[in-house]
Amino acid sequence: MTKYRNEILNISSFSLEDCQKLADAFNNYFPINDAYMNIEGNNLHVMLYKLDMAKYHDLLQSIAIDAKLLEKAFDIVDKIHSYGVKGSKRQFVDYNQERKVNNRKSKEQNRGKHYYANENTFSKSNNPIPTEYEDKIICGDSLEILKKLPDNCVDIIFTSPPYNFGLDYDNHNDTTNWDSYYDMLFAIFKECIRVLKYGGRFVVNVQPLYSDYIPAHHIISNFFIENKMIWKGEILWEKNNYNCKMCSYGSWKSPSSPYLKYTWEFVEVYCKGDLKKPGNSNDADITADEFKSWVVAKWSIAPERHMKEFGHPAMFPEKLAERVLKLFSFKNDIVLDPFNGAGTTTVVAKKTGRHYLGIDISQDYCKTAQNRLDESDLGQLSIFDN
Ligand SMILES: C[S@@+](CC[C@H](N)C(=O)[O-])C[C@H]1O[C@@H](n2cnc3c(N)ncnc32)[C@H](O)[C@@H]1O
Repeated sequence: MTKYRNEILNISSFSLEDCQKLADAFNNYFPINDAYMNIEGNNLHVMLYKLDMAKYHDLLQSIAIDAKLLEKAFDIVDKIHSYGVKGSKRQFVDYNQERKVNNRKSKEQNRGKHYYANENTFSKSNNPIPTEYEDKIICGDSLEILKKLPDNCVDIIFTSPPYNFGLDYDNHNDTTNWDSYYDMLFAIFKECIRVLKYGGRFVVNVQPLYSDYIPAHHIISNFFIENKMIWKGEILWEKNNYNCKMCSYGSWKSPSSPYLKYTWEFVEVYCKGDLKKPGNSNDADITADEFKSWVVAKWSIAPERHMKEFGHPAMFPEKLAERVLKLFSFKNDIVLDPFNGAGTTTVVAKKTGRHYLGIDISQDYCKTAQNRLDESDLGQLSIFDN
C-alpha cells in the first residue's frame, strides 16, 4: 500500500467549487500512486508520495480558478524541503531508505568535521571598520593599506587576485617567479584573514595557469587550510567560452601528452572560525528562486564583455559578484576587495545595499572604480538577469 505525506491547506477563504475543480484536475492528471487531493470540511488534503514539480506547475497554470488558491496549492508542496529525487520527481516518503550511510551524525563526530581548522586562535570579538575606510576606494598596495585596519572589521572579502599570467596591468608586473608571486599574494591574504570578522567569508575567484601546469586553486586552498580557514565549498564558474585555445591539442590523437581545455574558473569559499555567519534575517536579500538556483554550485555566467570600455584586462562580471554577495553576505555588511581593479565588487556592493572598501595599486583603475560608483544607485539591479 502506498504511504503518503499529508499536507493540509485550509481552504475556508476559497470557493468550494474552485477547490473541487482543483482536486478533480489534479486527480485526473496524476496517478493515484504518486499523489492525490481530497477535500474534508475546510481542508484540502494534498497526499504526496512523489510528484513532478514542473508538471504540477504546468497543470496549475491550465486551471481557470482563483489565482491565490493556485499559488497556495503550489507553495504547500514546494515548501517541503525534505525529499529525495528520482528522475524528474520529488519523492516525499521513504526517500531515506536508500541512504548508503546510516548514523551519519555519529560517524561525522568520530571523523571530526573540518578537523584542519578546529585549533584556530581567531578572536571572536568583532570591530567596526573606521569611518575613513567605509565606502571608500583607496589607491595603494593592499599590504600597506590593510595593515592600518583593526582586526575583525569586514564581513566578506570577494576578490580575484592577479594570476601571474603575464597580463598587461597598469601598475603591476604580472610575470614574476612563482615564489615571489605567492609570497606577495599570501602576505596580503594573511592581512585579509586578520581583518575578516569571526564568521566572515573569504571568497576568491581563481583561474589556474593551465598552460604552465600551475594549479593555483589548489595552492591557494592549501594556504587557507594551513591558516585554519574552513572550506565552505567551491563554485565552478562556467564561462562557456569554447573558443579558448581550441587550436592547442598537445599530442594530437596520441595519449603521450594531450592538452586539456577548460571553459570555467573556480570560486573558492572559506570561512573564518564558523561556517555560520551572524546576521539579521531581514537583511537577507536573496529571493527563493535565486537561492534554489545559486546553491547548485555550477554557475553559468558569461565573462565580462566590457573590459576594453573600462580599460582593465581582467575583470569579472557584475553577475558573478551579485551572486557571491547575495548568497554569502547580508545587506549593510562590509565588503572588501583588496584587488579591486575596475571596481566590480564595490559597485555591486553599493547596488545591493552593502558597504565597501576597494583597494587597488593602480590610480587609473581606482578612478574607473570611483566613476562606476558615482554613476550607480542602490537597487540598480535590473542589469542582472539570471
Ligand atoms: C584580476 S584584477 C581584479 C579585477 C576586478 N575583479 C574587476 O572586476 O575589475 C587584479 C587587480 O589587482 C591589482 N593589484 C596588483 N597588485 C596589487 C597590490 N599589491 N595591491 C593592490 N592591488 C593590486 C591590479 O592592479 C589589478 O587591477
